[in-house]
Amino acid sequence: MDAERPRVLVARAVFPETVERLRAHFEVEDNPGDVLFTKAQLTERLRGKAGAFTTGSERVDAQVLDANPQLRVVANMAVGYNNLDIDAFNTRGVLATNTPDVLTETTADFGFALMMAAARRMAESEHFLRRGEWTRWRYDMFTGSDVHGATLGILGMGRIGQAIARRGALGFGMRVIYHNRSRLAPEQEAPLGAHYVDKATLLRESDHLVLVLPYTAQSHHAIGAAELALMKSTATLTNVARGGIVDDVALGQALRERRIAAAALDVFEGEPAVHPGLLEVPNVVLTPHIASATVATRRRMAELAADNLIAALTGGVPPTPVNPQVLRR
Ligand code: GLV
Repeated sequence: MDAERPRVLVARAVFPETVERLRAHFEVEDNPGDVLFTKAQLTERLRGKAGAFTTGSERVDAQVLDANPQLRVVANMAVGYNNLDIDAFNTRGVLATNTPDVLTETTADFGFALMMAAARRMAESEHFLRRGEWTRWRYDMFTGSDVHGATLGILGMGRIGQAIARRGALGFGMRVIYHNRSRLAPEQEAPLGAHYVDKATLLRESDHLVLVLPYTAQSHHAIGAAELALMKSTATLTNVARGGIVDDVALGQALRERRIAAAALDVFEGEPAVHPGLLEVPNVVLTPHIASATVATRRRMAELAADNLIAALTGGVPPTPVNPQVLRR
């Protein structure tokens, strides 16, 4: 063992090639069995490590950092980083990195597919067929709502939101409205024909509402009973952002009472547990947090996380830091 080489933890199973690449630079402790560490186990595994390769499932907070003052960088293999307490990272001068851009189009494809699946009742009708209940054609069997020409509402108009808007506007002739912390520049809005509206207007006017905003204290339950009550009874709601942005109990109730037509969810509060109120209702499409899951994109995400870890610990410039201000210290 080379005492000079930094030690890093790869907290979850990842492509063997990525681990091998890291081994060329570091003493690597990996987790090929993909054991899910408790916080205490993660804290313990990080002892003596200068860096960590994590996924969105590992929570790194002030306690974990305080127990590991030698830790200099956490490279998260996800664009979202709500699992990392960035304030705690900043005050301790620890770098966090994420994997933006490489997953934008893949995630937008999946968000659009989920929205279409909800609008056209694909999961619900497929389950009906598998149950052997399909005995005849009927004029009103699984009638849903059109996607083409409808109003697409986007809450959170970042990279992925804009990619979904582009699909809707250019491919399906949709009218695009959005709400975001900040309004896009006119030259970004124009090619999408996107109109900035307040949140209440977005809720009232969307035929298909897609959530693509980051999960923060401010966006917790951004869609709850009051917001669902503003939506059209024919509308669909799609969430490819994070669990916790939607109040899953309120959504389950709204779907059961058909206060909105359908939903499509890739993320859940407390996942991998799914609220029973959502499992019980037919008019929701449920997928296990796989919006970025294509082979090519997962490889790009792993490689970008590795690029960040290697650069941060070998004197390079990490390509996608979340808190670059700690690099300037
Ligand atoms: C996945 O959820 C990600 O944030 O990349």
